Amino acid sequence: MTSISTNDLQIFLDVATEAVLAAGTVLQDFLGKLDEIEEKGRPGDLVTVADRTAETLILDILKRHTPDHRILTEETGSLGNLNSDLMWAIDPLDGTTNYAHQYPVSAVSVGLMIHGEPAVGAIYDPFRQELFRAATGLGATRNRRPIRVSSTSELSKSLLVTGFAYDRHQTCDTNYAEFCYLTHLTQGVRRSGSAAMDLAYTACGRFDGYWERGLSPWDMTAGIVILREAGGQVTAYDGSPFQMATGRILATNGSIHTQLSQALQEVPPLGRWDKG
Ligand code: IPD
Ligand code: CA
Ligand code: CA
Repeated sequence: MTSISTNDLQIFLDVATEAVLAAGTVLQDFLGKLDEIEEKGRPGDLVTVADRTAETLILDILKRHTPDHRILTEETGSLGNLNSDLMWAIDPLDGTTNYAHQYPVSAVSVGLMIHGEPAVGAIYDPFRQELFRAATGLGATRNRRPIRVSSTSELSKSLLVTGFAYDRHQTCDTNYAEFCYLTHLTQGVRRSGSAAMDLAYTACGRFDGYWERGLSPWDMTAGIVILREAGGQVTAYDGSPFQMATGRILATNGSIHTQLSQALQEVPPLGRWDKG
């Protein structure tokens, strides 16, 4: 088993930071200048030249600094040293639908898993120039200043965020009933269109909690480290240990975790809770 020191984590965090900042310039350059937007198969699942160019740039940086690591990317798949205990999970453009519509809510997400556990993460929003970073034991920052989750302790006073996966046309597990029920129980539920930003915003207290299904490791790895290091909690919907392979995440400030978990387990069918 590879052993990793604090110094190694700091080096990997700096590599992740270099990668997200470089990719961020690509996203800024292409916004509003796309000639072609492709669908990847499922309706609404888009890819653009910005996704591909940003990913190539990130891959160049990672291969130069950490040539012996495994890499998993959204657009290219699995590459590098497939036997390594260290795996980068890369989303070159999280929020592609927003981006394709020139709605500037998107980010670059670069995370590193060590022995399957999220351990290093950098998320960069080039439109607000916000850089979120963390590594296990080193704390979480926004633009190099420490961040912390909110102190909201009542679900009824919380602001939440969620999302709807691209397979929503092929599954009954759409998240629509959860969205309506939690809208009813809280001060509001937002849908930003970027899972990475949802986790980063929960980490710095703008949201109190986030849940979503149908996600991939590149959507979550960096954000999970940032949220945990900011004092947040990440589990499965029912409060059991988080498992990346399920694609399902419940991530909160910790204080509302049990209440949100409970609510997600008792969601009635659409419309059934409405007193009117
Ligand atoms: C998507 C975003 C969105 C989430 C989707 C993701 P993409 O990633 O994170 O918020 O709801 O499930 O696939 O396609 O924009 O990289
Ligand atoms: Ca994504
Ligand atoms: Ca993406």
